[in-house]
Amino acid sequence: MKQLLADRTKLIDASGIRKVFALAAELDDPVNFSIGQPGFDVPEVIKEAAIRAIRDGENKYSQTAGDEELRAKIAEQMRAEFGWAEPSVLVCSGLSGGLLLAFMTLVNPGDEVIIPDPYFVIYKHIIRVLGGRCVFVDSYPDFRLPVDGIAAAITENTKLIIVNSPANPTGAVYSAEELKALVKVAEERGIVVLSDEIYEKFCYDGPCASIAQYYDKTLMMRGFSKSYGMPGWRMGYVSAGGALREVIEEMTKFQQYTFVCAPTPFQKAAIAAMDCDVSGLVADYRRKRDLVYEGLREKFELVRPGGSFYAFVTAPGGEATKFVEKAIKNNVLVIPGSVFSERDTHFRISYTTSDEKIQEGVEILRGLV
Ligand SMILES: Cc1ncc(COP(=O)(O)O)c(C=O)c1O
Repeated sequence: MKQLLADRTKLIDASGIRKVFALAAELDDPVNFSIGQPGFDVPEVIKEAAIRAIRDGENKYSQTAGDEELRAKIAEQMRAEFGWAEPSVLVCSGLSGGLLLAFMTLVNPGDEVIIPDPYFVIYKHIIRVLGGRCVFVDSYPDFRLPVDGIAAAITENTKLIIVNSPANPTGAVYSAEELKALVKVAEERGIVVLSDEIYEKFCYDGPCASIAQYYDKTLMMRGFSKSYGMPGWRMGYVSAGGALREVIEEMTKFQQYTFVCAPTPFQKAAIAAMDCDVSGLVADYRRKRDLVYEGLREKFELVRPGGSFYAFVTAPGGEATKFVEKAIKNNVLVIPGSVFSERDTHFRISYTTSDEKIQEGVEILRGLV
């Protein structure tokens, strides 16, 4: 008899995170530092725009590449920010949808993709399923952009470099200088850089630089999930300047035969979202960042996160899984670093819960050292 499951199912190992959730299911009202989504809800004006769109019958398929008005608005922003004359824009089902389409479009079996480690989990799994090879470049212990390591990792087979700033899981924000140094390295070989900017609004110590400002072979990805509290609405977009127009066109072709389009009423709501000021919400997260950093720094080794809503903390004794099990037994849910890294020496805190819960969790963690 033919085996039921395709071989590629074995390429994805979700056991680490499943173990955490299994332990978590037994807890009553834990301090939940494990959730990768904002604690706030979608602002009312955006909800109203979605409801209006549904009532107005905006419930059919949109064009494959996305609602025309939304795409024009995104293009206008890209022109202003990056000086691209004619930005290509593809609206996708979350940034995750964009990642799948990008990797399908760019990665051949045997191609190498350079990824700073720690990294956002999805990259590794999709690239592997497509037959690509992930080349991880260690960015411990300070999590700065490892430009020299990336330069040393480039081979004939390098197809793509991934940059994620502000970063999940480390909270690192790369400076303009670091990004320009990477451009020099990528430019020499004409290597495309995929810039995952899902946390661009969560930047606490000054403006957030984008590599798209300095490099025309940047595939720029942003989304609405984190900035506007709508991860369940599945809204993201990809944009690029003229040098990568063909890439966006091919991604659009794949979208036509996979996702078809992003959710139509939420695309209408995303137009309203782009005019919505979320700086107040971000200021709350700056305060939460400070609560976590100031609360833990005496007892733990950790780098002050500059953005996103995560802190990546060294586990006592450098044994993350063991420490995470101990934390969970004490009612604090955190994720072991091995989920995001080839190492298991750190744990991730997501500080999207209430200030009171953050303080409670910080106290418990301090007591475990
Ligand atoms: C770095 C990073 N990229 C992409 C995503 C996916 O976001 P979306 O909800 O738009 O698919 C996430 C979500 O956790 C993320 O942390």
